[in-house]
Amino acid sequence: MNILVTGGAGFIGSHTIVELQQAGHTAIAYDNLSNASVVVFERIKSITGKEVEFIEGDIRDSAKLAEVFATRQIDCVIHFAGLKAVGESVVKPIEYYDNNVGGTVKLLEAMRDAGCKNIIFSSSATVYGTPTELPLTEDMPKGEATNPYGRTKSIIEDILADTQKAYPDMNVILLRYFNPIGAHASGTMGEDPAGIPNNLMPYITQVAVGKLEQLGVFGDDYDTPDGSGVRDYIHVVDLASGHVAALKAVKPEGGLHIYNLGTGRGTSVLELVHAFEEATGVAVPYAIKPRRAGDVAACYADCSKAARELGWKAKYGIAEMCADSWRWQQANPDGYRA
Ligand code: NAD
Ligand code: WQD
Repeated sequence: MNILVTGGAGFIGSHTIVELQQAGHTAIAYDNLSNASVVVFERIKSITGKEVEFIEGDIRDSAKLAEVFATRQIDCVIHFAGLKAVGESVVKPIEYYDNNVGGTVKLLEAMRDAGCKNIIFSSSATVYGTPTELPLTEDMPKGEATNPYGRTKSIIEDILADTQKAYPDMNVILLRYFNPIGAHASGTMGEDPAGIPNNLMPYITQVAVGKLEQLGVFGDDYDTPDGSGVRDYIHVVDLASGHVAALKAVKPEGGLHIYNLGTGRGTSVLELVHAFEEATGVAVPYAIKPRRAGDVAACYADCSKAARELGWKAKYGIAEMCADSWRWQQANPDGYRA
């Protein structure tokens, strides 16, 4: 299939392009480079041996999108493009709604006008809000998002569901990611956060490499086995292969499908720190800090629906996620900017 990958230069998009190419699909990347570098396309080529067609553009640019659809046969869109920093979304809500929600509406207009009926969307476990029961299944009701970023994901899910209802031959596949970490095993592609990382794994690797002094563990008094927060970490390569598997849900009759993509296993902050130390032999100094506002105690997925319907299951464990994140960090201490 010919797949338009919005946000294809980003962390998850770039890893997904590798998996798409290796599965025989053609990926066309569309990205405004607001949080990415074109260097990633050289890295993809060195892994797969295949060029990626890259179009620099913004999903809010209707004319550019119209041209992309008019000049290519796009079978499906995988829609990663968006802003994703939770804290930033609290201080810049207008930018988040404009980019994420407004951008998705423009993308849907372009798809409708061009007759492209298939979209796979990067949603998030954040749409479940504070879990009342674990593990989370796709049929549980969505909860109250705790920040504007999370609300954009929930709103976009609703927009996509309404659109699919109005155009029943459309395929809308909502993938709810849990916590993607890790990097390509080659050590040439990985997560490249700008500034001080907000997320746990890039913070750990930057402490380990000596760029940051110590990790703050946000809370040790949660109702979890060791008191620190529990999450369902998933290797980014497994997450990427989940998108290839999700193409199986694209059917001639159309439909709306939701899948959790995680491992089904919860790991605490302290467990992850110790697993990282064990996998790499590098110490990660840390100090216990107060809880971070908006955090939930524990969040992990029931992934049996994706296994049943898509034949997809995460293959990698925490040790591989740590080793691969570390290989990327060590080889690219300044990310793609080096
Ligand atoms: P990322 O920032 O690395 O990738 C997003 C890409 O989108 C970037 O390359 C950026 O330049 C591009 N982009 C942003 N706005 C754009 C616009 N208006 N037009 C064109 N391109 C634009 O982030 P990621 O971690 O790869 O996340 C990909 C998607 O998955 C996002 O939608 C994110 O919200 C979602 N998601 C991520 C996580 C996570 O923890 N990383 C978890 C759940 C969901
Ligand atoms: C994981 C655990 C922290 C940093 C976020 C978004 C979510 C999704 C994925 C993406 C928590 C603890 C963290 C640190 C710490 N988004 N922690 N010290 O919050 O589960 O999910 O990313 O687009 O929407 O909310 O991930 O990696 O920030 O935190 O102790 O320096 O690590 O409290 O328990 P989170 P995270």
